[in-house]
Amino acid sequence: MRPKRPTLFGSSPGAGQPFINGRPCGVARRSGIRFANSTGGSGIGGPMNQSATSAASRTGEVHQPGQPFVGYRSGILHIESLPLHALAEQYGTPLFVYSKAAMLAALGAYQRGFAGRNAQICYAMKANSSLGVLQVFAEAGCGFDIVSGGELQRVLAAGGRAETIIFSGVGKTRSEMHAALAAGIGCFNVESEAELDVLAATAEAMRLQAPVSIRVNPNIDPKTHPYISTGLKGNKFGVAHEDALRIYRHAASLKALRIVGIDCHIGSQITDSTPYLEAMERVLDLVDAIEAAGIVLAHIDFGGGLGIDYNGDQPPAADALWQRLLARIDARGYDDKKLMIEPGRSLVGNAGVCVTEVLYLKPGEQKNFCIVDAAMNDLPRPAMYQAFHAIVPLREAQTQREKTAYDVVGPVCESGDWLGHDRQLAVAAGDLLAVLSAGAYCMSMASNYNTRGRAAEVLVDGAVAYLIRQREDAADQMRGERLIQR
Ligand SMILES: Cc1ncc(COP(=O)(O)O)c(C=O)c1O
Repeated sequence: MRPKRPTLFGSSPGAGQPFINGRPCGVARRSGIRFANSTGGSGIGGPMNQSATSAASRTGEVHQPGQPFVGYRSGILHIESLPLHALAEQYGTPLFVYSKAAMLAALGAYQRGFAGRNAQICYAMKANSSLGVLQVFAEAGCGFDIVSGGELQRVLAAGGRAETIIFSGVGKTRSEMHAALAAGIGCFNVESEAELDVLAATAEAMRLQAPVSIRVNPNIDPKTHPYISTGLKGNKFGVAHEDALRIYRHAASLKALRIVGIDCHIGSQITDSTPYLEAMERVLDLVDAIEAAGIVLAHIDFGGGLGIDYNGDQPPAADALWQRLLARIDARGYDDKKLMIEPGRSLVGNAGVCVTEVLYLKPGEQKNFCIVDAAMNDLPRPAMYQAFHAIVPLREAQTQREKTAYDVVGPVCESGDWLGHDRQLAVAAGDLLAVLSAGAYCMSMASNYNTRGRAAEVLVDGAVAYLIRQREDAADQMRGERLIQR
């Protein structure tokens, strides 16, 4: 959908600028389109009210993750206090929209779990690395888990503090190590012995000591998709459990390194507590052995990986999970250790939706296709992991029409370009749909395949919409390219 103007929100503001009723403004305030009070809702930033929830359930069988921050009010799908169709009219489609309150609520669950403890939550920014999202977490006191020099630059640009950054990843280059050491990051999570030696040499050349933690691979099956399992023997991540003590001894012999902790991450979209509890015991066994060898570990970093509800999944709540994990840590006598965690998906996944317009309905011999303007380049998870995203109409009235089973597909020239298979929808060309649970591993994995510009992104805080990323056009994509000069 091309953005229409003038609209409810007026002409397009600059990136990151709050914009209400056509006027840029410096502070968040209520706009004329606020909906909450007229229906007895809970106001800016608050959850949807009871009637909204029951309205949502009236839409039928379709599961709706993201509530209470994404839900129907009087038949119109809202994110916080704003109707999504108005944002689509203003900014065009495909459009990613995020709820700030949802992100802070997800973070709050971890903060409750760690109340009274010496702990640092490092947002794994690979899940969603847009500057406006990073800014929300930086302002909320988060540290960051990064995996590249580019991510380092993003965090610093968004106001993150270098000393709260941990640097993970199996293939850090010398120049990335140099940049991270120069910035003064808090810890390198080293993933191999070879990397340890290169880091020591880089730090020595800079006359610095690098703070290190070694990522151990506990060989625990997280029971998730094979592409997002990371803690099994066959995975490329971390060092083998049985090699860890020897590698710690080697690290301790290198003067340019300062050992600060131990790290582990077993996978992503984990919905069962058992693999976490098993991995924790394995890591604590290593802590016993490493400290018995005279090497003191100031922190234990337990990675991320907690799953979210995409399609009725029921992962443990972050605070409940951490109460159980902390009980294990305390029982083993490590209550004095600082705890670090690296959650990504669970902080942002259900805070975001992608709004897309139905372009064409195409009846087929075996299937009906609903062709939308979002595609695998915007939402890569279905093509990559056969992942499920709920797809719902922006107006409940759409659901009063007769439903038909459709494969929801994008315009990209690949048969793998699908967003949902066999979805019961009552749609017509021009209707708007929301792809739910689109806050994590969507925009950060988006590409320009088929020379499609990446979508715009809006962050909603109550009744205020902030454009945090402008839609990319072809000129943006060709910048940096050159014709052959003869
Ligand atoms: C080292 C590390 N930490 C944290 C994460 C974040 O995981 P999640 O988004 O599942 O919480 C990942 C993701 O794979 C990772 O590899």
